[in-house]
Amino acid sequence: MTQIKLILLGAPGSGKGTQAKFITEKYNIPQISTGDLLRNAVKDQTEVGKKAKVFMDEGKLVPDKLVLELLEARLAEPDCEAGFILDGYPRNIAQATDLERITEIDLVINIEVDFNLLVERITGRRTCKTCGAIYHIIYSPPKRKALCNNCSGELYQRDDDTEETVKKRLKTYETQTKPLIEYFLKKGKLRTLVSDSTIDMMRLKVESLLKETFY
Ligand code: AP5
Repeated sequence: MTQIKLILLGAPGSGKGTQAKFITEKYNIPQISTGDLLRNAVKDQTEVGKKAKVFMDEGKLVPDKLVLELLEARLAEPDCEAGFILDGYPRNIAQATDLERITEIDLVINIEVDFNLLVERITGRRTCKTCGAIYHIIYSPPKRKALCNNCSGELYQRDDDTEETVKKRLKTYETQTKPLIEYFLKKGKLRTLVSDSTIDMMRLKVESLLKETFY
């Protein structure tokens, strides 16, 4: 099977994590979410986690050096040999150039969502504490209230998913991450998918783009 090295780019709440989970299942390549790596470090109270928490609570980017440390360690794991999906990395031009030093990327999928929908999507999100599955109280509700369909784990709302922090995160995206669209466009790697439809419709759009690109 072809090696797939993919970046999912998009604002907070655009659906990167949701689509990454489908791609992982279909293509058997790991989802590497720097947000998840950081949240695990915070939960485990590592040195990186303690430093990162301050920035995450403020809706700011964690310093590049700290994130790179986590990312490099993760990419060195054997399951990344067949490819990977980067979900939430890079987040600024400096991270994009750091990444180029480590590995080459085949495709960047930019998920575009109407700004007004993002706050609603994020504040309604619920995540499984055990397996990380993503739900939405309206758009993708669990079958049993507050319990994961896959593993019966408890669903929770992320600390940074409050309306106040979400607005700060969206501002950070506008100023620091959005310029990456132009950056990857110039490199001929970027394809944009507009997410104006259901989760399943988006999944079909992503699948068709991957088929077109890799097979
Ligand atoms: P991170 O965890 O990466 O969060 P994010 O980028 O803000 O993205 P989200 O996880 O909020 O959204 P998503 O696009 O994955 O959407 P989802 O699929 O869940 O980062 C958190 C923090 O960590 C950052 O603020 C920063 O501090 C730090 N950080 C992380 N990476 C960093 C880096 N590289 N450098 C520095 N700092 C870093 O979907 C959202 C909701 O919408 C869900 O409820 C879902 O069910 C629903 N939904 C999805 N698609 C649809 C659809 N088509 N229709 C209706 N609902 C939908």
